[in-house]
Amino acid sequence: MTTSKSQGDEDVDVLLYGATGYTGRLIADEVDRRNKTEGLTFALAGRDKKRLDRVSSSLSAAPTTVVVALDDPKGLERAARRARVVISAAGPFRTMGPPVMEAAVRAGSHFIDITGEQAFLRWAYEQDAKAQDAGVTVVNALGFDVVPSDIAALVSTTAMQDVQKIDICIATNAALSGGTRRSMAQAGGRSWWYDDGRFRRGPPGRFLRAFRFPEPLGDRTAVFVPWGDVVTAPRSTGAKTVRTFFSTQPKTAKRIHRLWPVTHIVSRLPPVRRAMAKRAPPPGEGPDAEERAKGRFTILAEATDADGLVQRGLTQGRDPYGLTAAAAVHGASILARHDAPRGVLTPTQAFTFGPFSEALKPFDFEWRVRSVNE
Ligand SMILES: NC(=O)c1ccc[n+]([C@@H]2O[C@H](COP(=O)([O-])OP(=O)(O)OC[C@H]3O[C@@H](n4cnc5c(N)ncnc54)[C@H](OP(=O)(O)O)[C@@H]3O)[C@@H](O)[C@H]2O)c1
Repeated sequence: MTTSKSQGDEDVDVLLYGATGYTGRLIADEVDRRNKTEGLTFALAGRDKKRLDRVSSSLSAAPTTVVVALDDPKGLERAARRARVVISAAGPFRTMGPPVMEAAVRAGSHFIDITGEQAFLRWAYEQDAKAQDAGVTVVNALGFDVVPSDIAALVSTTAMQDVQKIDICIATNAALSGGTRRSMAQAGGRSWWYDDGRFRRGPPGRFLRAFRFPEPLGDRTAVFVPWGDVVTAPRSTGAKTVRTFFSTQPKTAKRIHRLWPVTHIVSRLPPVRRAMAKRAPPPGEGPDAEERAKGRFTILAEATDADGLVQRGLTQGRDPYGLTAAAAVHGASILARHDAPRGVLTPTQAFTFGPFSEALKPFDFEWRVRSVNE
């Protein structure tokens, strides 16, 4: 495939699709901030002119708005051609991700999204050859799911030769947006863990285990949750087996684990998925600034090599949604101005994580490697 873009086509650095959503608005604020500080130029895109204009008028750059629907591939391509980088924040991504990503690749523009959905990630990595042919960089999951866990996974494998297995555990008290809950409901039944080089069905609750976090968290019980790293960590680290867990109260964890064969079947039923999606806050809603600031996370990745050596990587910080916006915009700023490897990449494949994580400092973001006894 060759790109049809020529120099004069681009009038902005970044086109943000889905600018009217809860996370889309946080991303719009962040790109507006970076417009002021470093001149990053941008336009907003989505399906609804009124809502887009409202977001635009709340920003100091008052960016141009582009109205284009997801079922208009030519219109999406025309819109993408105007930018060096397209960011998509319109989800659930399993249905809304492909049209925007494909349009960006066809237009010869780089692409970033904030998905954490396994089904979409698996599809996205199958598009690698198309992205390479088009000479563009695609970086999926450049948000809370998976940037801090992708870094923890990579750090846990520092100097390891033959990574056999990585178990990742997320401990967080952060609240979820309506869009995140709808994406989780839509994923019902389409979830995996990575077992010796193959994806296997992995319903929530499938595994139960304990993790030793540094104090004050200490020993925690955790259950399997189908997090994006099941798809990204094998690419980022070469691990043959990857499982992802959420830390919760021991009683709750044990109950979820005991019931998984039942919940697995029930959560796949369309009426149940619809009911779960209905119970989520409406589009555009999520934790307010005060709640976001209170949301802290610690992520532990535990890697095991072929000799049974265990090493741990740890990341921590706060405000997952704020961090998502900062990561997506920082990534876009790098792709707009510097060279990056071509193809469809994980966050740590695309960006050197040390310098990248400097942009996450406002969220008290830290990473470190620990031996198993620490
Ligand atoms: N990786 C992470 O850590 C992370 C963090 C945050 C969010 N996310 C993901 O990002 C996505 C958005 O989350 P959110 O909380 O911001 O959701 P939200 O508030 O519901 O926003 C959804 C966005 O998608 C747009 N949209 C919905 N249906 C559309 C359609 N048919 N055509 C075009 N646009 C459409 C909406 O536009 P309208 O205003 O026109 O409806 C809105 O801009 C979710 O998939 C969520 O899981 C991931």
